[in-house]
Amino acid sequence: MMEAKEEWISTATEALDKAYVPYSHFPVGACLVTKSGKIYQGINIENASFGLTNCAERTAFFKAVSEGEREFSHLVVAGHTPEPISPCGACRQVMAEFCHPDMPVTLVGDNGAIKEMSVRELLPYAFTEKDL
Ligand code: THU
Repeated sequence: MMEAKEEWISTATEALDKAYVPYSHFPVGACLVTKSGKIYQGINIENASFGLTNCAERTAFFKAVSEGEREFSHLVVAGHTPEPISPCGACRQVMAEFCHPDMPVTLVGDNGAIKEMSVRELLPYAFTEKDL
């Protein structure tokens, strides 16, 4: 039987084929796991007006949050990159909004490249509600 984390990695990797990337041809996939064990798949969704692009991570968060989810336990992000994919700054900020700083994030690239980080490691000294 597959370990839960392997399943989440497969879910993020399978999302790569669904990415809408006619401009960059740079697919990204995500798998966001709730504390109750539900999973939300995300892809990057580009637009002819390039700045409107939504990253895979934020697609997964916005799908989940719009369904009422608020508690997350893990995020996997996958790219077709030689090194594990590096999430952009905007997505790190969204992770900081919804996730505990210790929440693990698994970053995946091609050929088994993998890196485990926490939300805090991805965005130290994050701006959050406590700063308002
Ligand atoms: N991209 C993501 O989906 N997530 C990231 O964290 C990095 C960048 C997407 C946005 C765009 O569609 C493509 O990768 C190239 O920048």
